[in-house]
Amino acid sequence: MKYKYNKKILKKRINVTIYPSTIDLVKSKHKNISNYIEKLLIKECKDEKVVGDERMAFSRCDDQYKKEINSLLARYGRRDKQSIILDGGKAETSKTLIKNGFKANTIYIPNPTKDFEFIKDTYKKSRNIPDVVNCWLNELIVKWKVKHSIGLAYLDYMCTLHGNDNCKPIDDINLMFNKKLFSDGSCLAVTISTHDGRKSKSIFKNQDLLELLNVVSIASLQNEYTIEVLKGAGSYRKSMWTVLFKVYKKWLPLGNYDKMAIKKFETEKLYIYKGTISETGWNEDGFMDFCLDNKPHKCKKAKGTYNASFFDSQDPNFIWVWDNGFENWFEVPNTWKERYS
Ligand SMILES: C[S@@+](CC[C@H](N)C(=O)[O-])C[C@H]1O[C@@H](n2cnc3c(N)ncnc32)[C@H](O)[C@@H]1O
Repeated sequence: MKYKYNKKILKKRINVTIYPSTIDLVKSKHKNISNYIEKLLIKECKDEKVVGDERMAFSRCDDQYKKEINSLLARYGRRDKQSIILDGGKAETSKTLIKNGFKANTIYIPNPTKDFEFIKDTYKKSRNIPDVVNCWLNELIVKWKVKHSIGLAYLDYMCTLHGNDNCKPIDDINLMFNKKLFSDGSCLAVTISTHDGRKSKSIFKNQDLLELLNVVSIASLQNEYTIEVLKGAGSYRKSMWTVLFKVYKKWLPLGNYDKMAIKKFETEKLYIYKGTISETGWNEDGFMDFCLDNKPHKCKKAKGTYNASFFDSQDPNFIWVWDNGFENWFEVPNTWKERYS
């Protein structure tokens, strides 16, 4: 492979990196000037460039994009569950999460690169320390116990979606969904580089981004999850993309819900509830929450507009009043029961 940068350009470009693992990458790719690079890697960082298929992440130390993303993660992730984070030497992501109420001992940071020691060092004087694990993400996921479900995963890759020998984002994402690690309402964030050194046959740009959306939506559907792409993140620094997904454990079947809107319940008809949280005024014991699985439920007896009992609720003879959240009920064809039971 031929590299774009000679000694002169590197001198201009390289100062210090916030991702110490990239030092190794650069040195290995520019063996002839590796001592020279070592000397340069002591000052303040300024820029980022891509060499071949890899990203030389010489980003600004006060990287505004990462700060913004990290605070979105703190907002959208579930802090009552476990988090898996690809963090860098300065542990900016995990520090932001902890500052925002995530418990350090629920945060797992796999990192087998030089950053492992840097992360450890960053937390050296802290009382609350995340679990920094000296392995690749896929090794951590393989060993992960399903009962420790995940409320936040930040797959902050520094490679393309297809990755390299050590890191294969598509496989990681599929593995996490196949193992059903995501908890209901969790957040998955993925950063990839859409710059691919290989020559593309297409004249369209950023096709890897579409593939990422595809990979996540297929993996979620196959494992009975529903995903929503959240607003807030996007592309930055030419070729980097971060996409934030909200992951729901319940599936919502595809359909034209406008056509399925109801004016009142009717006995023997099949209904689905589209909401994901129990409404105020619902039975405190959670007896009305059965509908939150978003699956079709058959009405046993309807009364008036909002009152209905359901065959597969805890008490099929009890008529509940659904005036709160009624707009979330939709009628679905009878065939759906067989398809989704
Ligand atoms: C982009 S940095 C993380 C930056 C951090 N999230 C922040 O906002 O400051 C990604 C880190 O994860 C490591 N890494 C990348 N892919 C990995 C993988 N598959 N498994 C474990 N660590 C990985 C990189 O070496 C690097 O230390």
